[in-house]
Amino acid sequence: MSTFQESNASQERPRKKLTIRNPKPTDAISVHNLIRASAFVDDNSPYLYLLVCSHFAQTSVVAERNGETVGVITGYIPPAQPDTLFVWQVAVDPMMRRRGLARAMLKSMLLGEACKDVDYIDTTVTADNGASRKLFTSFAAKLDCPLKESVLFDRREHFLNLHDSEHLLRLGPFSTTELRKEKDEKLDTSLQPDAPQIKVAAQNESHKIQETS
Ligand SMILES: CC(C)(COP(=O)(O)OP(=O)(O)OC[C@H]1O[C@@H](n2cnc3c(N)ncnc32)[C@H](O)[C@@H]1OP(=O)(O)O)[C@@H](O)C(=O)NCCC(=O)NCCS
Repeated sequence: MSTFQESNASQERPRKKLTIRNPKPTDAISVHNLIRASAFVDDNSPYLYLLVCSHFAQTSVVAERNGETVGVITGYIPPAQPDTLFVWQVAVDPMMRRRGLARAMLKSMLLGEACKDVDYIDTTVTADNGASRKLFTSFAAKLDCPLKESVLFDRREHFLNLHDSEHLLRLGPFSTTELRKEKDEKLDTSLQPDAPQIKVAAQNESHKIQETS
């Protein structure tokens, strides 16, 4: 589990916290609500998110800020591919986007104990989801690994024209050695002038975010 913490430089302001951790079953409804509020991600039943937050909790993460779920990544290790983390859904609250949160969640997931034998990340994106594509191409660059793209589920063949084709992005093989060593990662707040400035510092297995607004 990776824990991030935010704190204000100003003593007069209340202390704020941003935590990235594995989900619990009691997170399922807030995860569902965040997914429902996000474009590009398919809505599923609350029961499905309860299963994810139970059976796939070790390969999923949520980001919580002041008690509110502001980010989620769900994933699992396919039984026939023990070297691969399949990243299923990613969503970040619109107010928290473009600050490095999705990237920080991906990193936290990958460095978790459940992913210790993982050498590849698989995910799927639709052709028109530029933000998601950028997140994964940028993460592949960070891991310094190849990224291959192919159609996994075809619009006509698999979705009977009910859904756009899902393109598989396969990142890897990679090593997480450099990622583990990463000491200090500044999150981009330039597009969110109102948002608190956040800094992430990795400390062994845990990470701290410091808010300096
Ligand atoms: C996709 C999404 C999760 C990205 O979250 P985020 O926290 O804003 O992403 P980050 O700040 O960590 O950015 C990671 C990289 O992607 C880039 N990026 C993020 N959003 C972008 C956008 N809208 N356009 C272009 N690039 C974008 C960032 O600049 C960064 O690149 P860098 O590492 O080269 O600087 C978020 O936009 C979202 O929730 N979208 C709706 C749901 C969705 O599309 N989910 C994916 C499909 S399951």
